[in-house]
Amino acid sequence: MENAGVQRLEEEFSNLEKECDSLKDEHKVYIQKLEELKSLQGKCISKINHQQKRYKILLSNLNRSETENVKVNELKKKITKNQFDCREMNESLPKENSLFLSVILGRVSVSLLTRPDRLNYKEQYEVFKLYLSLIVFLTSIIQCFLSGFRFIDALYHFLLVWYYCTLVIRESILRQNGSRIKGWWVTHHYLSVVLSGTLLIWPDSITYQLFRPHFMTFSVYMGFVQLLQYYYQSGCLYRLRALGEKRDMDITVEGFQQWMWRGLQFLLPFLYLTYMFQLYLSYKLYGLSKHPQCDEWMVGAAGAIFFLLFIGNFTTTSRVVFEKSRKVFASRRQANHKD
Ligand code: COA
Repeated sequence: MENAGVQRLEEEFSNLEKECDSLKDEHKVYIQKLEELKSLQGKCISKINHQQKRYKILLSNLNRSETENVKVNELKKKITKNQFDCREMNESLPKENSLFLSVILGRVSVSLLTRPDRLNYKEQYEVFKLYLSLIVFLTSIIQCFLSGFRFIDALYHFLLVWYYCTLVIRESILRQNGSRIKGWWVTHHYLSVVLSGTLLIWPDSITYQLFRPHFMTFSVYMGFVQLLQYYYQSGCLYRLRALGEKRDMDITVEGFQQWMWRGLQFLLPFLYLTYMFQLYLSYKLYGLSKHPQCDEWMVGAAGAIFFLLFIGNFTTTSRVVFEKSRKVFASRRQANHKD
């Protein structure tokens, strides 16, 4: 290479070296701030814990005392407000993983410290569910026309096992970050893992072949309902993001409340039909367990799981709807009083 060429490269390197020096300085500041951040996080966590402990004791002392006057009530209100503020502050601080997440992921932190990060993660979760629901929906339609290939059925059941395992992990991360997903929906997905696993290992027997068409029809229908659920959940999320709020706004903002209530009314008949379908499958499996050629424990196990899913889904959804309707009507009454 010519001298001029080497000189040009040397100049380029020297410019880069200067940039690298300033980068090193910036990185030093970054590490310093990171350490400061860590120490601030630790301080805030211990102060919040202290505050929460003290408020709990204060409240229980106040509740135990017989005195009921304006001052006591005022004090209780102030304590409750401060407890709420502490909970809000706690949301932007790292938390220890739940036992389940520690076992699965180890001691790596899964805390999402800012509200946009939490909303983004929730959105990714919903989009993941959408894609997988679409795949499950289309695959189950194909499966309806493809009988006699147990190996392909096994792949389908395996896909479901993987899907529900992933959901359980993602939902645990969401709950860790303050999502109010009811415990039942997580349990529902654990049970679905066990159910799909049971169907996966069910041998290609007479009972399997008798049950298969019912299960595939159910899968097509459930895939469709899951798409409707996506529409509802992503609509709620979009509105919450637009409102710039997430928690504790709950269903008190008029526009959001109306949309949610209408969405729920549209979704509910489809959901209850799913539950009836689950009950029917459990009844069908009970019948199959009495079949003279039934030797497999999977028949009874799958029937019991479908029944548990029916009970849990039916009661949880009914409870959610009851609570929401109470809030909606209470806020409508309040609005009418104001008019
Ligand atoms: N799976 C995962 N998360 C759920 C959920 C479900 N089935 N149902 C509610 N959530 C989440 C919500 O997104 C919300 O999360 P956030 O706190 O991060 O915002 C939280 O749980 C609280 O939701 P909630 O206010 O109780 O209910 P909702 O208005 O979001 O949804 C239903 C109410 C009834 C529409 C919903 O629970 C549902 O679709 N249930 C039926 C599920 C079902 O039966 N599946 C099996 C057959 S397809």
